[in-house]
Amino acid sequence: MIIPKSMIVGTGSAIPDKVLTNSDLEKIVDTSDEWIRTRSGIEKRHIAADDQFSSDLGAEAAKKAMVSAGVAAEELDYIIVATITPDVGFPSTACFIQEKLAAYNATAMDIAGACTGFIYALELADSLIQAQKAKTILIIGVETLSKVTDYTDRTTCVLFGDGAGAAILKPAENGRGVLGTYTKSNGSLHYLLHMPGYGTKNPPTLASIEKRLNYIKMAGKEVFKFAVTAMGDAAVKILENTGLHNDDIDLLIPHQANLRIIDATAKRINIPADKVFVNVQNFGNTSAASIPLALDEAISSGRLQQGNTVVLVAFGAGFTWGSAAVKL
Ligand code: ACO
Repeated sequence: MIIPKSMIVGTGSAIPDKVLTNSDLEKIVDTSDEWIRTRSGIEKRHIAADDQFSSDLGAEAAKKAMVSAGVAAEELDYIIVATITPDVGFPSTACFIQEKLAAYNATAMDIAGACTGFIYALELADSLIQAQKAKTILIIGVETLSKVTDYTDRTTCVLFGDGAGAAILKPAENGRGVLGTYTKSNGSLHYLLHMPGYGTKNPPTLASIEKRLNYIKMAGKEVFKFAVTAMGDAAVKILENTGLHNDDIDLLIPHQANLRIIDATAKRINIPADKVFVNVQNFGNTSAASIPLALDEAISSGRLQQGNTVVLVAFGAGFTWGSAAVKL
């Protein structure tokens, strides 16, 4: 039997006010509400304001998580932020969030795990608590993907949205907590989903901007195929590693990228539709924010309650993929 070492004691989320619907996108690119709904399940997504950045959404989600956990800023030992849309090249978005929270006892760091980033952050936080390096850890998944989305490319611009979700972890009590995590990467497939003009290799020059290298590029079909297999594998692995049976799972929260990938993941471990959390229709693919946003919504709506077991499964650029099982 697994004895958890860390547990989630509070969650929070933040989404920008501005909404971009499928019919808004019909006016920008050659697409249709019908195509977007049937291929992805997405109906609308939230878009950050021009002066709203990942650290703003991340800090807002963090403050809500701290209130729900009853944790003060000075108690935070680590702030771990999963994002591929940092405010600037450096310092980390975690450092900006630290300033916004005035959490100066914390070590602040970013993780670039794309859509799997929150699972990576959860694994790291759980390990730090297991190693007794920390007692209170804030983990955040946040993205402002709209700022790196090419709104002239219909194959990507209909898919992505902005948001943030956060969770606070503390040492486990009463058998509650992280039952297991599983993470993988395959860096040989980086070119199938990437943003080439964002770092030192293709710095922002007039030429690179003209080639639109500063936006997300995705080979959708190839990503789709790999995502279905990898998310299914990650779901199977977390059940094997924790000894959980699919009947033990109260809710499956898959990364919210595409309804067809979500359905395939649930089928792979035989989880009925009523135990699968879906909010992709409202937010689109928010990458690292997708799982913590969904987790917070499931908890705040009462769909998940203390004592319930939730399985999280994600896949993203890198490629990266992973899963976690948590008893709340
Ligand atoms: N509107 C209308 N038609 C479109 C659009 C659009 N927005 N986009 C593409 N099309 C067209 C294509 O041009 C193509 O036309 P063609 O056959 O004449 O060439 C046709 O629709 C079919 O395109 P496909 O790419 O085959 O469509 P598919 O069914 O594969 O769906 C999608 C595309 C939704 C992108 C899918 O491949 C997908 O979800 N991929 C995975 C995305 C994902 O999971 N990403 C996860 C990680 S994200 C991260 O880490 C940041």
